[in-house]
Amino acid sequence: MDRRTFVVLAGLGALVSSLEAIANARTPSPVTDPTLVAQAAGFQTVGTVSQLNSAHVIQTRIGRTSVAVIRNPSNPNGVLAFNRRCPHEGCQVDWSNNQSQFVCPCHSAEFSATGQAVRGPARSPLTHYPARIQGGQVQVQII
Ligand code: FES
Repeated sequence: MDRRTFVVLAGLGALVSSLEAIANARTPSPVTDPTLVAQAAGFQTVGTVSQLNSAHVIQTRIGRTSVAVIRNPSNPNGVLAFNRRCPHEGCQVDWSNNQSQFVCPCHSAEFSATGQAVRGPARSPLTHYPARIQGGQVQVQII
C-alpha cells in the first residue's frame, strides 16, 4: 500500500466513525427514569406516597399552579388533585384533616373531598386535575 492509498483509507475510516457517532447521537434512547417518563406523559411528581400517608395531603406548586392532593375517599388506593385557588375570589384553600374538607381562609367557603362547594360564598367546585400513584410517587397532570 502506498502512502496516498493509506491516507485515503485512513480518512475514510475517520469519516465512517464520525457518521456512526452522529447517527448514535440522533437516535433517542428509551427513557426509563420514572420521573422523566411521567413528565413525558404530562404528569408531574408532587411527592411520595409516604408523605401523603403521613400528612394526609400534599400541597405544593406545579409552575404557577398551587395544587393539593388527597386520598380518594371512594378509593383508598387512588388520589384526587385540585387547584387550591378558591373559585370565590382566588384565595388558597387548605385541606383540613379534622373536617375532611378544604377550607378557604378568606371567607370560610368549604369544599368536600371531591372538590364540591358545600358552604358559600363559593358556589363553584375546585378545579380538578388527573392524579395517580406510580412507583411510590404521587403524580398530577396539569392540563
Ligand atoms: Fe374563598 Fe372568598 S376567596 S371564600
